[in-house]
Amino acid sequence: MKIPFNKPYISPKEEEYIIRALKSQRHSGNNAFGQKAISFMKDKYGFNEIFLTPSCTSAMEMGALLAGIKPGDEVILPSYTFSSTVNSVVIFGAKPVFCEIEPNTLNIDVSMIESLITPRTKMIIPIDYAGISCEIEEIMKIADKNNIIVMQDCAQSFGGYFNGKPNGSIPHLAAFSFHETKNMNAGGEGGGLVVNVPEWHQKAYFMQEKGTDRRLVLDGVKSKYSWVEKGSSYLLSDLLAAGLLAQLEGEEEIISKRRLVTDAYCQLFNSFKKRGNLNIYISEDHIKTNHHAFWVVFDEADNRRRFIERLRAFDIFVYIGYMPLHSSPMGVKFGYKPDSLPITEEISKKVVRLPFYAGMADDGLIYTIERMSLVLNEIYGK
Ligand SMILES: Cc1ncc(COP(=O)(O)O)c(C=O)c1O
Repeated sequence: MKIPFNKPYISPKEEEYIIRALKSQRHSGNNAFGQKAISFMKDKYGFNEIFLTPSCTSAMEMGALLAGIKPGDEVILPSYTFSSTVNSVVIFGAKPVFCEIEPNTLNIDVSMIESLITPRTKMIIPIDYAGISCEIEEIMKIADKNNIIVMQDCAQSFGGYFNGKPNGSIPHLAAFSFHETKNMNAGGEGGGLVVNVPEWHQKAYFMQEKGTDRRLVLDGVKSKYSWVEKGSSYLLSDLLAAGLLAQLEGEEEIISKRRLVTDAYCQLFNSFKKRGNLNIYISEDHIKTNHHAFWVVFDEADNRRRFIERLRAFDIFVYIGYMPLHSSPMGVKFGYKPDSLPITEEISKKVVRLPFYAGMADDGLIYTIERMSLVLNEIYGK
């Protein structure tokens, strides 16, 4: 049996909606299915406004453009994240200021943020690793006190909650990924930018439509559109929005399937955590996970290596997670060294991400758990 790291989930209405979108002959962005997906999300999650984009990467670029990120600005973010988080501001000339992560969530360590703020700090970009929200309310307090914009990278956390509030509804800006590796898949690639500042909405409509005021023409306010802003093509095709809508409508089913995977992994790994062999995320009352992923931090890098190798021999694909950004070739160009962020560097050498997909409980979860149990017992003893 082969257990992939990830498998896209196809929800019951996907084919029907995509064919309907295809036959509508209105395939470009912000058409019928895109509008429905936007209304669905605003009603369910209370987002002030959300723009569907081709990816989370482009949503964050649009967010950085909207926030007016420019050369000389500093942006605080964790080093333990994907390149898109940092590139979204580096492409506009900002300097990344990397912050350590907190070992129980692998999210940005909020207690260190204030020490990194300077008069040049324009933005903070926390991420929600593995679908677990960062401490967004604490981050907002720091940001408000210092007049800083927060763009939450919710690539992995769509459908989760912080203190009863949907992820993405709290900061100024938030970006989601609807890539096929995420809980909700907009036909392979997709994203969304939440804009919770009403005064920024009109600018965002213009920026999304290549810097034109086409939106005003669609709304019947103007007869001809013209170039009014900086902008790009940050639109999601309506064929992909149709796929996304089907997934959004099936969210409860997707989450309940994924919950079974979390539960099984927790049951297996908890006893090893209790013995001090490894660390896993332990649920907290104020956070509701979307069951996106499961990570394990081993006590020693060599035990991680053994775990990965033994599982590969069983055709079970587990991965090492992110390579820290501060010690990557680009991070070094910004003046960082591996020991600039020792906690991040250390954790990244010991962390493993486990296979995780909706439907795994129907096919492959028992096989995976049995093999992992065998390997953990080999490494740590019974
Ligand atoms: C934290 C984070 N941000 C951004 C992205 C980029 O998402 P997308 O592929 O939708 O551009 C990813 C992708 O996995 C991610 O993990």
